[in-house]
Amino acid sequence: MERYLTPDELDKALRRDVADGLSAVPKSLPPKWFYDERGSTLFEEITRLPEYYPTRRERAILVERAAEIAAVTGAESLLELGAGSGEKTRLLLDALAGTLHTYVPVDVSGDFLAVATRQIAADYPDLAVRAVVADYERHLHLLPTGGRRLIAFLGGTIGNMPSAERIGFLGAVRASMTEGASLLLGADLVKDVDRLVAAYDDAQGVTAEFNRNVLHVINRELDADFVPAAYEHIARWDPAHEWIEMRLRAAGRQSVSIGRLDLRVDFAAGEEMRTEISAKFRRDGLMRELDAAGLALAEWWTDHAGDFSLLLAKPR
Ligand code: SAH
Ligand code: AVI
Repeated sequence: MERYLTPDELDKALRRDVADGLSAVPKSLPPKWFYDERGSTLFEEITRLPEYYPTRRERAILVERAAEIAAVTGAESLLELGAGSGEKTRLLLDALAGTLHTYVPVDVSGDFLAVATRQIAADYPDLAVRAVVADYERHLHLLPTGGRRLIAFLGGTIGNMPSAERIGFLGAVRASMTEGASLLLGADLVKDVDRLVAAYDDAQGVTAEFNRNVLHVINRELDADFVPAAYEHIARWDPAHEWIEMRLRAAGRQSVSIGRLDLRVDFAAGEEMRTEISAKFRRDGLMRELDAAGLALAEWWTDHAGDFSLLLAKPR
């Protein structure tokens, strides 16, 4: 496994994000810190919840379109950003069997990536599997290039970046694309608010546990003493931005020591801290963002209910 994010760099980035985010008004933390091994496992559990439709919908599109994706891209290498378990990706690996020789899954969650990738390598013995621990917001320019390359960014993870970051990210993806490359992007679509909120506030409380996992990560890595159970999970639809916002709300006053930062952070009773946004898209808005990044739409697919979209884009 290659590492563009060494444990030392990860530690530095976490310290910086926590120091900045907990000193800001209002407080916030970037969502990438949900994903230690437990967080990645909780996310996998979320994908199987009855309320969480995105994974099932995207999988349905992939089942239907994988052969077409293979025909249009003729990909020799597949670079997958935020690969996670790579479960859905197997549909692409199967469809691309005629041309694909290399699979490069990229993720910040190194331990989880190692296990998932070992399984894929065992199941696809003819494929070179080169897992990379990296931050796709910082390390795109370092990732392997060459051959007809398909870059996949699935699951709607693009929605976890605010618009300005998204545009910068798509521009960096475009800049890394050479002749014959394609981008396969999964994006969740705007829909009925009750369904959206339920997908992020499930009856079993798995998403709540996923949300609070960031506090467990900070406790362990930075010697902090958050009491995770003292923070309530909030998932709210923001109609102005068209995103779901996840927050943690301090049930009562909290005074938290973050040992390795030599920092004490106070929460007022009821104070909310943002932990994630999950933007939902409309076709027009997404087209504008692709266009601004120098990408042209080649294909646009949705599932039968119009819940989720998968698109193929090429350099303009
Ligand atoms: N693609 C999978 C997993 C989505 S979950 C799916 O569609 O189901 C989001 C994944 O992105 C997690 O595995 C998480 O560890 C990873 N991730 C989040 N922020 C990241 C970042 N900045 N750089 C690299 N990986 C990141
Ligand atoms: C990874 N990402 C697309 C998920 C989402 O739906 O925004 C993360 C998640 N957060 C809560 N549930 C799932």
